[in-house]
Amino acid sequence: MKITPYSIGCGALVADAQLAELSDNTLADLKTAFTEHGLLFFRDQDLPPDEHHRFAKRFGDIVLNKFFKPSDAHPEIAEVRKAKDQKMNIGGGWHTDHSYDEEPALGSILVARTLPDSGGDTRFANLAAAYDALSDGLKRTLESLRAIHSNRHIYGEGGYYRKTDLAQTLGGMDRVGDATHPAVIRHPESGRKILYVNPGHTIGFEGWTREESFALLDYLYAHVDQPEFTCQFNWLPGSVAFWDNRATWHFANNDYQGQERLMHRITLAGSALAKA
Ligand code: SIN
Repeated sequence: MKITPYSIGCGALVADAQLAELSDNTLADLKTAFTEHGLLFFRDQDLPPDEHHRFAKRFGDIVLNKFFKPSDAHPEIAEVRKAKDQKMNIGGGWHTDHSYDEEPALGSILVARTLPDSGGDTRFANLAAAYDALSDGLKRTLESLRAIHSNRHIYGEGGYYRKTDLAQTLGGMDRVGDATHPAVIRHPESGRKILYVNPGHTIGFEGWTREESFALLDYLYAHVDQPEFTCQFNWLPGSVAFWDNRATWHFANNDYQGQERLMHRITLAGSALAKA
């Protein structure tokens, strides 16, 4: 297995490894690389749904997304589908999966199944590197804060997705909820400090007004979305991306209108997040 940085500050490309055939030793090395980089890309994988599921189970427990449709291929694989005639896509803005849960997801393993002729790349951001680059003063302020995360404004009554052509594919509104987490977390495995807010789900800081919260959040979001912390992955048949939801954001580009895109996603269960 050969692991090389994908870009200066974001992700790593893993070559010479088939995820369906990893020895226990190689899997251990892969876990180390996952902790170090928080984002791994793979090419030319032969990973049918059962093998996708088996690989995920070797990493940890699976958590089901409350809103996405399970794929026909496997009940624990969620379908991230955009049909030909659909205008909206799932995940078309910076976010991290399940930050609205009390125990946010550890990671997600996304496998390309049907790709458009061009477009449909996914962008990623490295929240450990972005945090490191903040000033000591702002780091101290952020370390004292807790952020509120929600899915109501997306999946709930009148929520963003409910107003679009994604609505018919979503699970019930009784599943919406909120959670609060430290704005800077200590990564459970790497021990690194990570900025844990995201544009998709963070709705403010505890004890701050919405206006105050968004003045700071908007600054942080612009800070993260810089070339040195971000990268873009171009999907090809056989491509797989495996990201750490505690340490990254992602953004599915919606630039392939009139074409179908189908991805299979397995989300790994995480734990409550500790303050840095
Ligand atoms: C997601 O998990 O948000 C979807 C990412 C993608 O489809 O590229």
